[in-house]
Amino acid sequence: MPASAGMFRFGSEFSDKLSPLISHQSETMDQKSKKLLAAQASLDYIPHGAILGVGTGSTVNELIDLLPSINDRIQAVVSSSRATSDRLEKLGFEVSTLNSVGDVDVYIDGADEATKHLQLIKGGGGALTREKIIAGASRKFVCIIDDSKQVGMLGKFPLPIEVIPMAQAFVARKMVKMRGQPIWRENFVTDNGNHILDVHNLQIPNPVEMETRINQIPGVVTVGLFAHRPADVLIVASDTGIRVMGN
Ligand code: 5RP
Repeated sequence: MPASAGMFRFGSEFSDKLSPLISHQSETMDQKSKKLLAAQASLDYIPHGAILGVGTGSTVNELIDLLPSINDRIQAVVSSSRATSDRLEKLGFEVSTLNSVGDVDVYIDGADEATKHLQLIKGGGGALTREKIIAGASRKFVCIIDDSKQVGMLGKFPLPIEVIPMAQAFVARKMVKMRGQPIWRENFVTDNGNHILDVHNLQIPNPVEMETRINQIPGVVTVGLFAHRPADVLIVASDTGIRVMGN
């Protein structure tokens, strides 16, 4: 059963694996250990016969490495990036297309920033467009983070925007008008063949409105704000264990 909202706990099923990492509750954990703890907690949200969406990034990599242990629960898996597909396939999973599976039961992904309203900045790994598509197609979006990603207001992490290459300078000028400082992510091409602008120094008190505004700019493929479709569940790993928000 999923942990209830606001509950703190340590993992049980994988306590043997975690014990070298958490020898005493008062000890501090490194970030990788927290990512593993959050990933382990998210397994509770994968029902039997699940069509599972898998996000991208180092936190999700911890999840992927745990998936063989619950293989019998997974009917099909869809992936948000080539990197994730490669990792899943190396573990023996056959990756289905979103078109072939229809709606996804549960999508599990990390984030670069998250608020208590479960609104997110994503795209640090550049997979934001496919991530947003799968999140949109999912009945439940479970976001897994360590506590360094929790913020009061989004915007300290540079906001990624995937842009059609010919619109890069145009979109950048629009972002300057919105008081951001866009930096082109050099030598990076998305899985969709596009570029990323990372917009620094934005303050985002109203993420829904900001997401709508940026989406209106011609040439924007996706902005890495997940506010119209926030997470349903946020699992935060800290030194004191797991905190779950939402349901
Ligand atoms: C990739 C993402 C990731 O979820 C985000 O960057 C967090 O990554 P990590 O778990 O490595 O900190 O949005 O596009």
